[in-house]
Amino acid sequence: MQNAIITKKEGTLTREELHGKTFESISPDEVMHGCGFMQQNRLKDSQYYIAIHYMYVDSGTPEYKVQAVYAKMKHFWLDDPEAGVEGQQRKQIVAALDRCWPEAQKILREQPATTEIMLDYGYRSLFILPYVLRGANAMALAIAYGKAYDILGNFRWVPLEDLACFHIIWEAICVGVRRRGAIEVEKAIATDYHLNAEWELALLGAGVMAPWLLQKNVPLEKLTQNCHISAVDMDPRCANEWLPLVAGAKNVQKIDEKHTRIPRYNIDFYTRNIIDFCQAEENQRRFMGVHTMGVFSYYRSCPDKALGLMMQIERTVKDDGYHLMDLQLKTTQSIRNSLTFWSSPALKQDENFNEACDFARWLGDKTGTVLKVVGCDIELEEPSTAVFCYTKPKIYVPVAA
Ligand SMILES: C[S@@+](CC[C@H](N)C(=O)[O-])C[C@H]1O[C@@H](n2cnc3c(N)ncnc32)[C@H](O)[C@@H]1O
Repeated sequence: MQNAIITKKEGTLTREELHGKTFESISPDEVMHGCGFMQQNRLKDSQYYIAIHYMYVDSGTPEYKVQAVYAKMKHFWLDDPEAGVEGQQRKQIVAALDRCWPEAQKILREQPATTEIMLDYGYRSLFILPYVLRGANAMALAIAYGKAYDILGNFRWVPLEDLACFHIIWEAICVGVRRRGAIEVEKAIATDYHLNAEWELALLGAGVMAPWLLQKNVPLEKLTQNCHISAVDMDPRCANEWLPLVAGAKNVQKIDEKHTRIPRYNIDFYTRNIIDFCQAEENQRRFMGVHTMGVFSYYRSCPDKALGLMMQIERTVKDDGYHLMDLQLKTTQSIRNSLTFWSSPALKQDENFNEACDFARWLGDKTGTVLKVVGCDIELEEPSTAVFCYTKPKIYVPVAA
């Protein structure tokens, strides 16, 4: 069982004081560092669920366990006073459970560790089952900032009472997403300050722009007074379905099938492949900053593919510009995560920080760019993300005698 112990730290909030709050008013990091939420034995718990996965993966999850998830969820949301919801709402939740159950049981039969998590604590959450059902995609990353779909289909800030909050606060993938998100926003703000002039930023593989739109205290309006953002993602759901939910429907303007604009933040969002975008005439040496956060680990299993992508991206970077990217690192939690919540065959995480650095250096050497290691998250037992920045080498021009 994934336990939570709550300890009161000096000058921080207790769980009672957090009562009624959602992640709209408090960031996951504030809860992580400030409010004494701790998870016991996170490594041990991950190993436990990994073992469950391999115990049952060949035979499939025992059917009694799958059906026990339904029974536990139904009982909790219909009858248990701890669920904290009223009569009519209880019925709506169980009706929603019934609607999604045919699909849910298919997944749980194939994912024994997910079933075990649902039995241990997931049944007490309105957000964990929908997260499993909706699968790995850019919108799922919004949960790292505390926003997700509930079982009724509403995309909303997760209440701190919901047990999904432990996933949000501590899951390696969520911590890594927040760390790389903080780094990319800080880098843009620093560049803006340094340039103090109009400049172009490209977010390639932008997803739903979660670090920009959901992270707390991002001065996006101020940043985009000088900075024009071109965001690119090939998944049409990003612009069409998810961006209006994340940015607010009234802020999102559809220009045409492949082009969406967020005028309030001076953002143009293109449904396009990164390669096409990088090859377009108008994008050559156009950008002072190019960010490809969360992208390269999906190309990592084929180094030549990653190199091909990198070569295209470097064409768009100005001579005095930079390219910021990250690589995910394998952790005990991320192995468990890939067997439960984030099952994505294309994703390959580096074995450790050194391996990621070696690969990043190889990409740099092959493209003639200069590599700087920007950082990695260190608050977990095992770091889950490494962030790198590439710049172009300065060309030595001899001074005439
Ligand atoms: C893991 S998400 C990262 C989203 C966002 N950058 C973040 O850090 O939250 C990766 C995104 O890259 C997009 N992507 C990957 N390869 C791409 C390509 N060749 N062209 C366009 N988008 C791509 C995927 O569709 C996905 O939405």
